[in-house]
Amino acid sequence: MQFDRIRLSALHQKVMSAEQATDFIKDGMTVGMSGFTRAGEAKAVPQALAHKAKTQPLKISLMTGASLGNDLDKALTEAGVLARRMPFQVDSTLRKAINNGEVMFIDQHLSETVEQLRNHQLKLPDIAVIEAVAITEQGHIVPSTSVGNSASFAIFAKQVIVEINTSHRADLEGLHDVYIPTYRPSRTPLPLVKVDDRIGSAAIPIDPAKIVAIVFTEQPDSYSTVSVPDEETQAIASHLVRFFEQEVQAGNLAKNLGPLQAGIGNIANAVMMGLLHSSFEHLTMYSEVLQDSTFDLFDAGKLDFASGSSITLSERRNAEVFSQLEKYKNKLVLRPQEISNHPELVRRLGIIAINTALEFDLYGNVNSTHVCGTQMMNGIGGSGDFARNAHLAIFVTKSIAKNGAISSVVPMVSHVDHTEHDVDILVTEQGLADLRGLAPRERAKVIIEHCVHPDYKAQLQDYFDRACHKGGHTPHLLAEAFSWHLRLEQLGSMKR
Ligand code: COA
Repeated sequence: MQFDRIRLSALHQKVMSAEQATDFIKDGMTVGMSGFTRAGEAKAVPQALAHKAKTQPLKISLMTGASLGNDLDKALTEAGVLARRMPFQVDSTLRKAINNGEVMFIDQHLSETVEQLRNHQLKLPDIAVIEAVAITEQGHIVPSTSVGNSASFAIFAKQVIVEINTSHRADLEGLHDVYIPTYRPSRTPLPLVKVDDRIGSAAIPIDPAKIVAIVFTEQPDSYSTVSVPDEETQAIASHLVRFFEQEVQAGNLAKNLGPLQAGIGNIANAVMMGLLHSSFEHLTMYSEVLQDSTFDLFDAGKLDFASGSSITLSERRNAEVFSQLEKYKNKLVLRPQEISNHPELVRRLGIIAINTALEFDLYGNVNSTHVCGTQMMNGIGGSGDFARNAHLAIFVTKSIAKNGAISSVVPMVSHVDHTEHDVDILVTEQGLADLRGLAPRERAKVIIEHCVHPDYKAQLQDYFDRACHKGGHTPHLLAEAFSWHLRLEQLGSMKR
């Protein structure tokens, strides 16, 4: 154990095993845990909790920043620990339990959870479990590879368990900028005016008397699961790069584009990789999760600064990046997710937001979460925080899924996460639809022309023509609007 990581020596006596620490977590409690996009989650305590639940009744409401790594959501689901879960997840076992109605999942805009806690719209966590690289002389907590909701969870909870993870370098300290907004309605404006501004503290300021247990672990973060860009995602990236070039040429965008946000997953990562081979320089990111592409852009000299809430890397990049942290440290900051995703900042900084859709419709409504309107995939994450307020709200997706059985462009989305009012640009590997300033009927024309897969083009044109014949500002044939999804459910394909 590295006791030098606990610099307030009075706290040394709080060190115990993860099993002992679970005694502070009682059946029925609301627990706030660190962890955001598989980075910086508490590991030993939830694992011990899952183990304990096999022999005694133990159900909790679990709040995190976002998804957990190390199969923790799977272990907690299988052990029956989760009564309620918020605000985001990506685990297939938990997903199944959510869709079976066994775990109540609250799918939230990621900037909102702690705001709702602060205003007592949600029950405050009884206890927080926070991964750290160190505890300071003041007893403040230095987070690890994510900040997420950790700071507010630790501030609001009556008791705090700290997991010190010695697999993380101690010099992650200094990377974080913990800023907690003041209370409404007399809140002062957030003093952040540039993506690289630091407005808070390097550690989470809490009363050390709240720390009831300290657990050491050396289990690393999980690697991200992003795959290398394929032909389609590269095509999406090229359409977008060409669009950015045209916007710069027309004087609508600055030469460095302005701050970029890129969502989770394969497609958004591939789009950012596409910027590697573009003419753009001095790029900046004001994003949520920093993936491989962020560090590839740094290495290529394209990116000047990246602000996020977590760092989640593939196996390929993880060792390289963290073994040369000093190379990146002055170009990076990790913030609480309510700051990285803050709607007011997104609007004020003029962010270009690139997120992934599961499907979108003729008129530009986007579904990011529900397969066939019912089955939860992951959650809305930060996509709504960014899209609603972005300078440019861009959604990307492949035009087909499941070997062509699914068209990602449909007559009417089966669930709406982002309305037509919040969406500027849609991109598939087929092309790019610029919806700005267009009425619904005009939007449908550019979407059919540029985004739909050839296998579905005639089918969608036919729907649109017949809907227009019936009339309306946003023409639809209500009896047929979901017929593509019904056909998929009944016959296994949306194709007519
Ligand atoms: N209907 C059903 N399934 C679909 C689909 C559709 N219209 N479109 C894609 N899929 C499936 C894919 O087949 C794939 O399935 P698999 O895992 O069984 O192979 C899965 O969805 C993921 O698709 P993929 O093409 O690999 O994209 P991705 O990894 O970029 O993820 C989302 C796409 C939408 C699931 C993901 O971006 C997400 O959860 N977004 C919501 C949260 C968010 O945007 N956060 C951003 C702020 S960080």
